[in-house]
Amino acid sequence: MPTRIDLLIHSSSQLLTLPGGPQRGEALGNLGIVEDGAVAVQEGKIVATGKTAELRSQFEAAQTIDASGRVVMPGFVDPHTHAVWAGDRADEFEQRLAGKSYLETMNAGGGIMATVRKTRAASLEQLMAETRPRLQRMLAHGSTTIEVKTGYGLETAAELRLWEAISRLHEEGPWELVPTFLGAHAVPAEFKGREEEYVDLVVNEMLPAIRNSQFAIHNSQFADVFCEDGAFTVEQSRRILERARELGFKLKIHADEFVGLGGTALGVELGATSADHLVFTPESEIAALGKSNTVAVGLPCTPFGLGQKEYTPAKEFLKAGGILAIATDCNPGTGWCESMQFVIALACRYMRLTPAQAIAAATINAAYAVGLGDRVGSLEAGKQADILILDAPAYQHIGYRFGVNLVKTVVKKGKVVN
Ligand code: NIG
Ligand code: FE
Repeated sequence: MPTRIDLLIHSSSQLLTLPGGPQRGEALGNLGIVEDGAVAVQEGKIVATGKTAELRSQFEAAQTIDASGRVVMPGFVDPHTHAVWAGDRADEFEQRLAGKSYLETMNAGGGIMATVRKTRAASLEQLMAETRPRLQRMLAHGSTTIEVKTGYGLETAAELRLWEAISRLHEEGPWELVPTFLGAHAVPAEFKGREEEYVDLVVNEMLPAIRNSQFAIHNSQFADVFCEDGAFTVEQSRRILERARELGFKLKIHADEFVGLGGTALGVELGATSADHLVFTPESEIAALGKSNTVAVGLPCTPFGLGQKEYTPAKEFLKAGGILAIATDCNPGTGWCESMQFVIALACRYMRLTPAQAIAAATINAAYAVGLGDRVGSLEAGKQADILILDAPAYQHIGYRFGVNLVKTVVKKGKVVN
């Protein structure tokens, strides 16, 4: 007697299973392809994957989807976004094209602070209303799990409002959000010349307030710091991250986006779950990360968005044995991109990843970058049924083709949601 299940997706040209946990170093790119593959789903979880004929004889499904001629794969995990903000910075984009650099704009009171002013003035409802369509576009482009940072409040009440917006949007779903507190995204204008006092505020007031907020509900929650010239020094970043760790946050760090200050080494030393950007990381720190479990997150939309020619040297990280993931970095300043498919296209061209490596970096390794590797990021029995059906016959089409959405169907926790 066949076992009754909720959903069977069958006859895919290629089922990408991404088996076996994080893909370290040059082992990156194991897609675990099953031709004419099927996936069986019950109560939101995957119960089996295999050949269509096998699963069809084993299971009788309430709903079946014929994926003939199509790739079936895990939902993308976008492990680094700044998706909650108010307004836009289209004016700065034009100024940048005319020759003004990102750091120049930031040091003149624009950049992150420009978004902070608009975000502080926005109500919870307004923030949610501006963010929701971004999440909808991310989901439609295949991101089923999305990390979202605060960091455009930079004062306790506004940071708490951003945290609440993330939490409420997570509850709304169908996407799953992973919240990160980034109160140390910039030193706000009113603390100019009193940087240490702002760090004190983050350490003594904001971190405990976020920790104790009723919205601190998720399975995985992080604290992050923008360790950079003009943002936070390594010593300031250390103070903030050590306090965050004491309070029970998992850690992330923005490191080496424009200048290598030592942020990657700090992240590795503190056992951060991920270190992100990593464009100007010195060799010794690439080596240290390669020996650690800290995931290196490359964000190719950022140099692309800024028209900068340096990208994360992915091959060096892989040679060193590192666990590499990729993300959109979706934000209003450096890269407003909602598509992990476009990230893959950039990673293939500018980080020199193969399509298979980029897909693994955007799924299973990205899941580890948000601490959810045991639950999402691959199609394996026992995992959550977060599944994409692509309008494409072979995995290389993601990356090879760009600027269009190849995702036809999105399944989140076993339900068709897009
Ligand atoms: O990841 N690095 C810091 N934060 C963003 C930029 C944020 C902004 O410009 O609003 C980034 O690139
Ligand atoms: Fe970022």
